[in-house]
Amino acid sequence: MAVPFADAFGRRVKYLRLSVTDRCDLRCRYCMSETMEFLPSKQLLSFEELDRIAGCFIACGVETIRVTGGEPLVRKEIVRLFRGLSRHLSSGGLRELTLTTNGTQLARHAEDLHALGVRRVNVSMDSLDPEKYATITRGGSLARVLEGIEAARRAGLAVKLNAVALKGFTETEIDDLIGFAHRGGMTLTLIETMPLGEIGSDRTDQFLPLTALRRQIEQRWTLVDLVERTGGPARYARVVETGGKIGFITPMTHNFCGDCNRVRVTASGVLHACLGQENAVDLRRILRGGGEDADLIDAIGSAVSGKPRGHDFQIGPGGRPSLRRHMSATGG
Ligand code: 5AD
Ligand code: SF4
Repeated sequence: MAVPFADAFGRRVKYLRLSVTDRCDLRCRYCMSETMEFLPSKQLLSFEELDRIAGCFIACGVETIRVTGGEPLVRKEIVRLFRGLSRHLSSGGLRELTLTTNGTQLARHAEDLHALGVRRVNVSMDSLDPEKYATITRGGSLARVLEGIEAARRAGLAVKLNAVALKGFTETEIDDLIGFAHRGGMTLTLIETMPLGEIGSDRTDQFLPLTALRRQIEQRWTLVDLVERTGGPARYARVVETGGKIGFITPMTHNFCGDCNRVRVTASGVLHACLGQENAVDLRRILRGGGEDADLIDAIGSAVSGKPRGHDFQIGPGGRPSLRRHMSATGG
C-alpha cells in the first residue's frame, strides 16, 4: 500500500479535482474573455491517462474525486471516463465521485451519471432571470439549465447550486436564488470572484465581498451559523425562514486554507497543490515519457509535501488578475 499524501502542515490530501477539459459552451464574464484560446486536443489528457492519474491518487488515500472543467460534460464521450472511475466506487477505494457542471448538458447525462454511482452534482447558476443569465454567460439558456437540474433530481442526484457573487448583479438575484434553492431542498453556495485569468475587463468592478452580500441577505432573512464543515472551503448558515442552507466561499475576504485537503489536476495534466500559487508539477510529461505509476506517485507526493500554507490572491493594479491561469484551465 502506498503512503498517504500529506503536506508539511499535516494536511492529508483526500480530495482531487480533476479537470477534463478547459473548454466550455458558456463564456461567463467573470471566468472567461469573449474570445478564448483553448488547448489543442492532443495536449489534453486522454481518458486512459486521466484514469491512471486518478488511480494513483486513490492508491495514496484520495477518497473523493470531483470531475471539473471548463465544462466537463462538453468533453466527448465523457461517460466513458465515469464508467472507468466508477470501478473504484465498487471496490471501496473511492467514497465519492462527483462533478461540477454548468448544467447545460445535464439533462442528457443525468441518468448515466447516476447509474455509474454519482450521487451529487454541483450546478453553477448565477441568476434565475433568463435575460440576466444570458448576459452573464454571454448567451446561455437558463431554461436548459433548469431542465438539467430537474433531470438530475429525477435521476436521483442531489443538486447543490453555486452562484458567484458579482457587484451590481447578484444583489437583485439573491432572494430568488435562495427561494428557488430552498424550495427544492438544495443548498446554495455563494462564491467570491477570484482574480484568475484575463477576462477582458476590470476585476475590481465585479468584486462583491460576501461580507456585504451577507449583510444584505440578513435584512430579509434570518441566518444562523452552522459549525458543520464538508471538508471544503465553504462555511454554512441556516436560513430560519426556509430551513435551507447557504454556503459562503470567501477566498478574498477570509483565508480558507488552514484545513484545505484538496489538490487539482488541469486538463493538460498539470498538478497544482494550491489554486492560488504557481507551484506545479507536469504529470503529463511523466505519463508520456513512459513513467510508471510509482513515478507518478513520487511526483505527486513531492508536490503535495510542498503544498504552500495558503494562497495570496490579490486583485492587481488596474484590476488585473493575480495569476494568469483561468479558473476554467485549472479546474473550477
Ligand atoms: N472566481 C470565482 N469563481 C469562479 N468560477 C469560475 N471562475 C471563477 C472566478 N474567477 C466558478 C464557476 C463555478 C465554479 C466551478 O467556479 O461559476 O461555479
Ligand atoms: Fe463555463 Fe463555468 Fe467558466 Fe461559466 S464559469 S464559462 S460555465 S467554465
